[in-house]
Amino acid sequence: MASGGANTSLPERRVADDQPSIEVINHPSPTPYKARLAQLLDPGFGSVFTDHMVSISWSEGLGWHDAILGPRTSLSLDPATAALHYGQSIFEGMKAFRQKDGGAALFRPFDNARRFNSSADRLAMPGLPETLFVEAVRKLVERDRDWFPDAPAGALYIRPFMFASEPFLGVRPARAYTFLVIASPVGSYFSSRSSAISLWVSENHTRAAPGGTGAAKCCGNYAASLLPQRNAIERGYDQVVFLDAVENRWIEELGGMNLFFAFKDGSVITPPLSGTILPGITRDTVITLLRDQGLHVQEQRYSMEQWADDAATGLLTETFACGTAASITAVGKVASSNRTFTIGDGKPGPVSSILRQLVTSVQFGVSPDRHGWLVPV
Ligand SMILES: Cc1ncc(COP(=O)(O)O)c(C=O)c1O
Repeated sequence: MASGGANTSLPERRVADDQPSIEVINHPSPTPYKARLAQLLDPGFGSVFTDHMVSISWSEGLGWHDAILGPRTSLSLDPATAALHYGQSIFEGMKAFRQKDGGAALFRPFDNARRFNSSADRLAMPGLPETLFVEAVRKLVERDRDWFPDAPAGALYIRPFMFASEPFLGVRPARAYTFLVIASPVGSYFSSRSSAISLWVSENHTRAAPGGTGAAKCCGNYAASLLPQRNAIERGYDQVVFLDAVENRWIEELGGMNLFFAFKDGSVITPPLSGTILPGITRDTVITLLRDQGLHVQEQRYSMEQWADDAATGLLTETFACGTAASITAVGKVASSNRTFTIGDGKPGPVSSILRQLVTSVQFGVSPDRHGWLVPV
């Protein structure tokens, strides 16, 4: 379905920028009711998938074409497919939530569409019209609406992604791309029973350098984070903290979440968007909600030494991580090669707990959506 760029066996159907038209092909044998329920009982994170997917092709000259919502199926790829060799591959992570009224809604999907296009731009890939991106996601959720898990914080995690599908060897931007959207019913991201996570600070591996791809959601960033993440897990920690690549001193982010620091005086700090961290949509949501509460939030650099000192003196009362997958997650313990410290009493504090509650109640349509973040499916 999505091999080698343009489909040459059928006449291509071009997609007009202003009129997203996605052809629907129903699954001939969707997962039977009982098997689906069994998979939805305890889906965990990222290993159960719905029946359908969206596929849209791009090629030079034709632009976007052959937009199809059809059965989720394996891809057949030429061994020279450019993404496999040069890593021209980007993705997004977003969620659809069941609403109080029984419907479903996407949370800030146009922000994902914009970030997707800025990742595409950084990797010399074509942008996708925002309306087409959101319509592809919306249609998939609508089609697979029976796949929402019943778990209290359960949601449909949606993974739009694009890779260079032209088969060739040579270092240049590809001339054909495939955009796909798949969906996965999810429960909790962290399997650990503890309610606050522990972090290991990576001192000899960095995630992104100035001028690099740190602000793009490209696959290579994640590949580079896997060894330090594995080192953290092997030492018994949940996640790795990356420091800046120039001074090895300023806190950047985790492998898949942004960080916030809350202080005794009511102020909050989060690292600035200087091009080396991902501009998280949850990060922006948190900043907005904190400012709504009248709190002073500063986007400024915060050093490793200061973090340890402020935790020791009690000036720092909370640290929390945030992202689509795990929402707001408190940090209880931090360690590096030469120090270990606890944040507050090592348990989730009031700021992260209230924020988690505020974010999820907007997402599930329980409290009013004052910022227009929800898009009904
Ligand atoms: C490296 C990184 N930082 C931060 C985030 C949080 O971003 P968001 O809140 O948009 O999920 C993610 C998750 O996508 C990520 O992969």
